[in-house]
Amino acid sequence: MKLFIDTANVPEIREMAWLINGVTTNPTLVAREKRPFKEVIAEICEIVDGPVSAEATALDAEGMITQAREISTIHENVVIKIPMTEEGMKAVKTLSQEGIRTNVTLVFSANQALLAAKCGASFVSPFVGRIDDVGGDGMDLVSQILDVYTAYEYSTEVIVGSVRHPRHVLDAALLGADIATVPYAVLKKLFNHPLTDVGIKRFLKDWEGVPK
Ligand code: E4P
Repeated sequence: MKLFIDTANVPEIREMAWLINGVTTNPTLVAREKRPFKEVIAEICEIVDGPVSAEATALDAEGMITQAREISTIHENVVIKIPMTEEGMKAVKTLSQEGIRTNVTLVFSANQALLAAKCGASFVSPFVGRIDDVGGDGMDLVSQILDVYTAYEYSTEVIVGSVRHPRHVLDAALLGADIATVPYAVLKKLFNHPLTDVGIKRFLKDWEGVPK
């Protein structure tokens, strides 16, 4: 499974660049950085050699297409995030015909993911954490999407988004998701286990007793 980082924060991306395969941003994450949108995306593309998702904010298909054409000139690795709406899918269809890659975002049902794939989306992003937040089962949605895509051999890659904790990453991997996009703090947690810390401490202590 590929790991993307879900942030627009350049220091976080720089630190984790050796590990990650791509980056996802959204308007909320970009707004936190208080920097011009295109400048941030361009800098991220120089750091990471992989897909970098940048979101279109227009609500109508024409507006999204215009934004997408412009944003995609920033760098060849830029992928345009398009929200899962009827207008959004019209935009995805046109953009895919033009060879502009898209990541259909805010996906909360398998039918939405089916439509995204039919329209030629390169990626689809089910938001598991937000589903769990309202008492649903985000991973159940991921499982359904993977079943549908396997049955019809769609090449659209599934990005598990809205990851809140390491268990989400494990479940995404167990289901065979293509990608999990993970916030910096959760990425750091993936390295840790208390028994690893205890084990290292004990090995170092025992090592002191080895004649040098
Ligand atoms: C994914 O592409 C989104 O940027 C992100 O995962 C949304 O996560 P949130 O629900 O924590 O805002």
